[in-house]
Amino acid sequence: MATLRSSSLVAFLALCLTTLPTSLGSSSPAPIIVPVQRVVNSSTSGHNLVKAGQARFEAFNRIQTRTKGFASAAPPSTSLTDQIVTFTINSVVAGKNFSLIVDTGSSNTWVGANPANRLQPPATLDLFEVTYGSGAVLGLETDETVNVSPDLAVVNQSIGEAIESVGFDGVDGIMGFGPVDLTEGTLSSSPTGTIPTVMDNLFSQGTISSETLGVFLAPTTEDDPVNGELSFGGVDTSKATGPMSFFQSTLPFWAISQSATFGDTTIMNLTTCVVDTGTTLVLLPDDTFTAYQDLTGGTPDANTGLLSITPAQLDNLQTLSFIGTDVNGETQHFDLTPNAQLFPRALNTEIGGSADGIFLIVASSGSSAASEVGCIMGQSFLQRTYSAFVTPSGDSSGAGTVGFATTPFTDATTN
Ligand SMILES: *[C@@H]1O[C@H](CO)[C@@H](O)[C@H](O)[C@H]1NC(C)=O
Ligand SMILES: *[C@@H]1O[C@H](CO)[C@@H](O)[C@H](O)[C@H]1NC(C)=O
Ligand SMILES: *[C@@H]1O[C@H](CO)[C@@H](O)[C@H](O)[C@H]1NC(C)=O
Ligand SMILES: *[C@@H]1O[C@H](CO)[C@@H](O)[C@H](O)[C@H]1NC(C)=O
Repeated sequence: MATLRSSSLVAFLALCLTTLPTSLGSSSPAPIIVPVQRVVNSSTSGHNLVKAGQARFEAFNRIQTRTKGFASAAPPSTSLTDQIVTFTINSVVAGKNFSLIVDTGSSNTWVGANPANRLQPPATLDLFEVTYGSGAVLGLETDETVNVSPDLAVVNQSIGEAIESVGFDGVDGIMGFGPVDLTEGTLSSSPTGTIPTVMDNLFSQGTISSETLGVFLAPTTEDDPVNGELSFGGVDTSKATGPMSFFQSTLPFWAISQSATFGDTTIMNLTTCVVDTGTTLVLLPDDTFTAYQDLTGGTPDANTGLLSITPAQLDNLQTLSFIGTDVNGETQHFDLTPNAQLFPRALNTEIGGSADGIFLIVASSGSSAASEVGCIMGQSFLQRTYSAFVTPSGDSSGAGTVGFATTPFTDATTN
């Protein structure tokens, strides 16, 4: 018996050893992790997070109704860096370091916002132009090798080199992680064509095996050194505390259909929400926001533009849940706990608020739920939920999915 056992053990081990290389070979390579920097703009006045968010919101709706063609967008009204917190990655293009905004709400990648940090002018005369609703850039398009990070290079990436830009103080440009459709109309030589994005090229060059970007952002507290990470080629499951749920994207940018409840009250019926790393707040349709304001008892704070609540109202704050049907037909919800609805108190004075004030990160989009885009799930949501942006393999039409999972920050008391 003993002999039989050990020989079957040997056979079992041999089987494991022979199958191991095969199973390793067929599983997806690990995603490539790139750290995200957090740039806190501690200018003590002038931030208008609500206005910046609303400008961004208008830009998303304008994309839906734009006249096709080059340079058709309206000029911007506010700056993209008029945010208290901007998430950036440090990438190297043609041997130069650039700090680029991580933007899931746009798709062009460009550098040179800071005139002191620009590349040699390209030999081409192919103009590119992008307006963001908050900020705009005009420059020349060229092909470069982009080292997203030291171990993640994309060759022959078509990028913009700015000649003129407005609204990008303190950063060098943008790395756009939106679907490729958003690049349409940004290139003079090809007004109806698109420009393959960094993600598209990483995938087509075989550097990543799935066109998936995972985003993990930590909440902002003054003494919190953790900034977050991007995961290229898959989800970093070590950052999630639950399974991913995927929702179909319904527009040519990352936008999903969600409803919302505050405690037991439905405050938003199914509405198209953009999932956007480039917006600070959570913007809800105007009537939903009014319902939220009534239920929280919050009052608009003149200095910050945000809703302000009292400690007693904080005690009664309910969970704000976003609810949607995932790609498997199951209802899923991702929550902002009462603590997650608070603007980081450590930054109160930096938006012109009083140090002991309690401000809420939920604001009005200034529009109705009936707009094509009704709400934006910005950084304040994404700092509490892992997110993933998935472009289907071999499909460049942008009909992807957005995934969410809980993280250790979902229920954390950080504010
Ligand atoms: C880019 O910045 C990093 C970190 O500051 C530095 O180590 C590296 O040498 C820089 N690379 C270039 C090409 O300037
Ligand atoms: C580089 O990319 C452009 C499109 O951006 C393409 O037209 C060109 O053929 C590519 N060149 C090489 C060498 O792959
Ligand atoms: C910081 O925010 C202020 C107020 O919005 C803005 O004027 C300034 O350009 C921003 N600075 C940076 C470095 O982003
Ligand atoms: C949701 O839709 C129902 C049915 O049309 C309507 O009665 C209800 O008022 C709506 N709720 C909200 C919060 O808009």
